[in-house]
Amino acid sequence: MPEQPHAYIEDLGRHEGRTVTVKGWLFNRRSSGKLHFLQVRDGTGVVQAVCFKGNLDEALFQRLASLPQESSLEVSGTVKREPRAPGGYELDASAILVLHEAEPYPITKKEHGTGFLMEHRHLWLRSSRQHATLRIRARIIKAIRDFFDERGYVCIDSPIFTPSACEGTTTLFPVDYFGDTAYLTQSGQLYAEASAMAFGKVYCFGPTFRAEKSKTRRHLTEFWMVEPEVAFLELDGLLELIEECLTAVVAAVLQDRRPELAVLERDLEKLSAIQAPFPRLSYSDAVDLLNDKGNSFEWGGDFGAPDETLISEQFDRPVLIHRYPAQVKAFYMKRDPKDDRLALCVDALAPEGYGEIVGGSERASDLGFLLEQIERHGLPEEAFRWYLDLRRYGSVPHSGFGLGIERTTAWICGTHHVRECIPYPRMLEKITP
Ligand code: 4AD
Ligand code: MG
Repeated sequence: MPEQPHAYIEDLGRHEGRTVTVKGWLFNRRSSGKLHFLQVRDGTGVVQAVCFKGNLDEALFQRLASLPQESSLEVSGTVKREPRAPGGYELDASAILVLHEAEPYPITKKEHGTGFLMEHRHLWLRSSRQHATLRIRARIIKAIRDFFDERGYVCIDSPIFTPSACEGTTTLFPVDYFGDTAYLTQSGQLYAEASAMAFGKVYCFGPTFRAEKSKTRRHLTEFWMVEPEVAFLELDGLLELIEECLTAVVAAVLQDRRPELAVLERDLEKLSAIQAPFPRLSYSDAVDLLNDKGNSFEWGGDFGAPDETLISEQFDRPVLIHRYPAQVKAFYMKRDPKDDRLALCVDALAPEGYGEIVGGSERASDLGFLLEQIERHGLPEEAFRWYLDLRRYGSVPHSGFGLGIERTTAWICGTHHVRECIPYPRMLEKITP
């Protein structure tokens, strides 16, 4: 077969009229007498290769009629503009090399149960919806990094092995650390705070772990979180930062991932509505709203998923709920000087029932107050000694938030369950593949 330049499917537009080689996998096929229409995917897209009997070797043409899905192949052909084709181009095949003939592929056109698909996650990634979702996830991650990098934040990652809890002791994963117990990190925040005192504006971005026993569509035991932390930032500024970050992320996906959003049949109008300003609601107002709408809710508790859903359904963009009762929040939050029962914190609830995607707060900067809180929350003071140093050596007001990548991806993609928003999900009963 004559050597033709290798082209990726997403770039075919740059090769119109030329002969190139596409290297990929057989995705689908239609045949009619003298023609096979092979749908070939290469990870960047899908292209139809038109195989005319007269242009190919007779034996090869016959082999193509029954070549199994996911067989790997190289197709050389001329790139033709075809407005009806998904990517706008098709290949007029002149030579085909079959690299590997696949065994019968387990994922077929028929409806499969989620359990089956999750067992075949390593193959399911090739399916169009999963492929689109994870391409959007990657774009979201890039948008977040760009957002902070362009604003002068320094990426300072926090460790994964930690000696202590950040978000409460009930969801820690212990690991043996040379005879001692360490824990997989629940959040990089405490280290991000220390980093902010050295670099001013920072973010950490990594996997975080929670031994969540809850089987909901929003919980993973391993999820990715970006956590910016900023010295001299107070709660109002934090709300603005969340708003700017979320609008930038949605705008980037709308700009660069239209074909993927189309595969997912995502309602683009709903995403286009994600513009500043976002509604801001105090916790107390949110409680009134719940009671008005018929979910009777007592002041003082944390919102459950149905509460969050009802609140977020009232708005067409993320709603920023601030000043929760301190008793339902983590130990490190600063109190509201106007009402000591309240923490200076914020949760962003995504619209369309996706619930909390961001949690953040202004941090307590007073040493005595933090010591009291560590004791009240039953945390070992020893493990927090280094953290308390931040309140000993130039303590300043500071704030930060954590944004969950999978929940944000689920919302932007319109995907029901977070398990489809991470390549290889980890959940209560799920650790393979
Ligand atoms: O609200 P959380 O627990 O906040 C923190 O961890 C803070 N230390 C962050 C900070 O201020 N630096 O978690 C933050 C976000 C949630 O809003 C949610 O998007 C995501 O992390 N998240 C989860 N995502 C998937 N599965 C889980 N089990 C999650 N738990 C939290
Ligand atoms: Mg939270």
